Amino acid sequence: MKTFNLTSNSSNQTMDIAKSLAKYLSNSDVIVLTGELGSGKTKFTEGFLSYFGLENEISSPTFNIVNEYLAPQNNIYHFDVYRLSDTDEFYAIGGEEYFEKGICLIEWGELIEEALPFEYIQISFEKDLSQEDTRLLQFQAFGTKYETILDNFNNDIKYILTKGGI
Ligand SMILES: Nc1ncnc2c1ncn2[C@@H]1O[C@H](COP(=O)(O)OP(=O)(O)O)[C@@H](O)[C@H]1O
Ligand SMILES: [Mg+2]
Repeated sequence: MKTFNLTSNSSNQTMDIAKSLAKYLSNSDVIVLTGELGSGKTKFTEGFLSYFGLENEISSPTFNIVNEYLAPQNNIYHFDVYRLSDTDEFYAIGGEEYFEKGICLIEWGELIEEALPFEYIQISFEKDLSQEDTRLLQFQAFGTKYETILDNFNNDIKYILTKGGI
């Protein structure tokens, strides 16, 4: 398993990071977003959607469990599974069927780990206690497909962050 960390110093930077990862993904890819409330999981998703031309369209999935966004080539499913009581409830809403239908971003996805496909990307978000707008993002690839993708993304993003944005 491959991991690396990035530091984001603003919500815009988190969105830029998401956009540059989005470039490598398409239907049937899965990203798990983990981290406490307010750590940036939804902000990341907002940046991800904007790569696909879905700016300012994000709505909170807290009440729906899943929101669907349709881009020309891809469907994007944004989950927040925090309120599901267990994995069975995820199966009951047909959660697994979304994995093949589009790109899935799953906030609190670690809570339904048993239902996740073999290959996925996990991003852990951590607040910095001393700096309000700083977040530590840890990327982990599960499966060789995502090791390659994260290698390429890691090369891009170092360049992008030193240049000060996309
Ligand atoms: N570097 C950063 N990355 C992401 N969000 C940030 C950052 N700095 C400040 N924020 C703010 O923190 C909040 C993150 O909220 P949100 O993305 O909804 O978190 P979560 O979905 O993890 O609960 C937003 O209000 C955002 O503007
Ligand atoms: Mg959220």
